[in-house]
Amino acid sequence: METLQTLSARQSVRDYQARAVARELLEKVLAFANKAANAGPFQVTVVQEAALLQDINDATRVAMRDSGNDFLMQRAALEGYQPLYGAPVLLVFSAPAGPYAQINVANAATTVIIAATDLGLASGFIITPTLVLDGQNALSQRLRLPEGHVPTVCVPLGYAGDRSKYHHPRPLADNINWV
Ligand SMILES: Cc1cc2nc3c(=O)[nH]c(=O)nc-3n(C[C@H](O)[C@H](O)[C@H](O)COP(=O)(O)O)c2cc1C
Repeated sequence: METLQTLSARQSVRDYQARAVARELLEKVLAFANKAANAGPFQVTVVQEAALLQDINDATRVAMRDSGNDFLMQRAALEGYQPLYGAPVLLVFSAPAGPYAQINVANAATTVIIAATDLGLASGFIITPTLVLDGQNALSQRLRLPEGHVPTVCVPLGYAGDRSKYHHPRPLADNINWV
């Protein structure tokens, strides 16, 4: 795909086919995590184990429901809502606490998402799983993260199901000023 076409094609996909993603394709996509601008350590954990995906999904839905945050509670209350959207792969981006941790992780995740889009995979950029993955608890331990790493961003990956599910066209933002 042309670069600008790829950037235009990217969207948060919230419905995935059950179809698995080939290891070779995942490796190709993951190589781009270390092409992003970076100022510190981070880790990408590739979660494909069905039981772990289900447990993260279910715990996240409960945490959203009990969060006290109106937006999250409304999402969790949607008919059949699954926070991981049925994706067969979840990338968990983690980093040790530090001033640039979130920037490093977001850069890497975004670069991976663009590569995935270019290679025909659907993806998302989600933080709700961090409600239940604090780097310390029993669920986090199943990720076998490096010592001191805290999950910051997750990226579901797979083949798109219904691209319009939970998708709202984005209003044009008036957020550029010239000086
Ligand atoms: C910091 C951040 C956190 C986000 N968390 C979630 C999330 O937990 N679940 C989700 O479905 N989308 C999440 N999103 C995706 C946004 O909802 C999405 O990017 C936005 O609605 C624009 O839509 P688009 O990505 O399809 O262009 C998040 C995006 C960002 C930047």
